[in-house]
Amino acid sequence: MAFRTQRSAAGCAENSAFSIPCSFAYAPRMSLDHRFPTIADLRRAARWRIPRYLWGYLEGGAGNEGAARRTAEALDRITLSLGMLAGEPKADLSTELLGRRYDLPVGIAPVGMSGAVWPDAEALLARTGAVKNVPYAMSTVAAATPETVGPKAGDTGWFQLYAPSTPEIRQDILKRAKAAGFHTLVFTIDVPVLSRRPRELRQNLENPMKITPRILLQSAIAFPWALGMLGRPIPRPVIFDPYLDQANQGKEHKHVGLALRATPDRAYLRALRDEWDGPLIIKGVLEPRHAADLIEDGADAIWVSNHGGRQFEAAAAPIARLPLIREAVGPDYPLICDGAVRSGTDVLRMIAMGADFVFLGRAFHYGLAAAGRAGAEHVLHILSEEMRIDMAQMGIDRPAEARGRAHSV
Ligand SMILES: Cc1cc2nc3c(=O)[nH]c(=O)nc-3n(C[C@H](O)[C@H](O)[C@H](O)COP(=O)(O)O)c2cc1C
Repeated sequence: MAFRTQRSAAGCAENSAFSIPCSFAYAPRMSLDHRFPTIADLRRAARWRIPRYLWGYLEGGAGNEGAARRTAEALDRITLSLGMLAGEPKADLSTELLGRRYDLPVGIAPVGMSGAVWPDAEALLARTGAVKNVPYAMSTVAAATPETVGPKAGDTGWFQLYAPSTPEIRQDILKRAKAAGFHTLVFTIDVPVLSRRPRELRQNLENPMKITPRILLQSAIAFPWALGMLGRPIPRPVIFDPYLDQANQGKEHKHVGLALRATPDRAYLRALRDEWDGPLIIKGVLEPRHAADLIEDGADAIWVSNHGGRQFEAAAAPIARLPLIREAVGPDYPLICDGAVRSGTDVLRMIAMGADFVFLGRAFHYGLAAAGRAGAEHVLHILSEEMRIDMAQMGIDRPAEARGRAHSV
């Protein structure tokens, strides 16, 4: 069998998630499409390349993970109506949202400590967003600063905010995000307290992370991850470094939790609205009755989400609430949705049920772990190919034409 050095897949070139000598990087001569035809294939490959304790962090949900299961099952139950004699397909996937045109109605969702799950993930995903012209939303609790990641995102960078504990910290973070080039703010409101995630508890994951023999062993076994991490500091939410003294008032063990977790209310949201002069999106909404208040308080878009099933065991599947929220906000108000999207078909299902734009969180990390930045780009390739094919089946040229074309079984 012919072997060659596969630069994009295994990591010695620009696309790589980490830098290893090319001699380590032999892979069979097969395109990513043949190796990973679906996101499920990327996930299978990623599983053994990410240490077990971090896999638990990435995959885990709240409680018995009922919300995570329900989210996937509800999406799977949606069928889409076929077109008939629609003529030559002329698919155009580009979609406008909040005054910008993106190449796909798809974005990269904020994932805290992304750079622990895969080395340098924030920078790699920001670059993916810029190269493919899709939004990349950087988490507040990223393992990198906005100053290093913002320039990589070009003009596709969004910044996700968890409520900092004081107005001073909040204002400074907003100023830094803006200066780093992030133009759209996502305010996440579905984390009033930290949730209980049994997979993380079982793995004994702590913040800050403690290096135990078990963690060392699991890290070493995940060889590609370990190589990528060589020489890097232990990942932590570095954005808070300048504020720890202030928030912890001289306590010996500086704790990020104290710089964060002001449980926000509507007055907090209005203050935030006054301080941010770009588009403001509220993430973590599942109730149609909340929409009017959020719009009144200045939300430019609503992001329907249950945080990937990570916060509330009894949370509804976002796809199940989406049509009701669409009804509450009217046909033209921008709605984003996420949760268990693993194919282009799933993207169209969400659009059919009322979304304008769809985000994925875990899937991009499967891509990174399976094949570096090329793997993250491959996720977008899979989604767009599947969307094109499905749109031809549906007899539509633009994703937005899928609106209302859903049935539920
Ligand atoms: C490991 C992990 C960390 C996350 N961290 C954040 C975060 O920091 N901020 C946030 O708003 N959402 C966070 N989310 C939720 C995602 O933005 C998104 O809502 C969710 O992942 C969508 O589900 P999916 O992973 O099935 O695509 C996180 C999700 C995962 C899996």
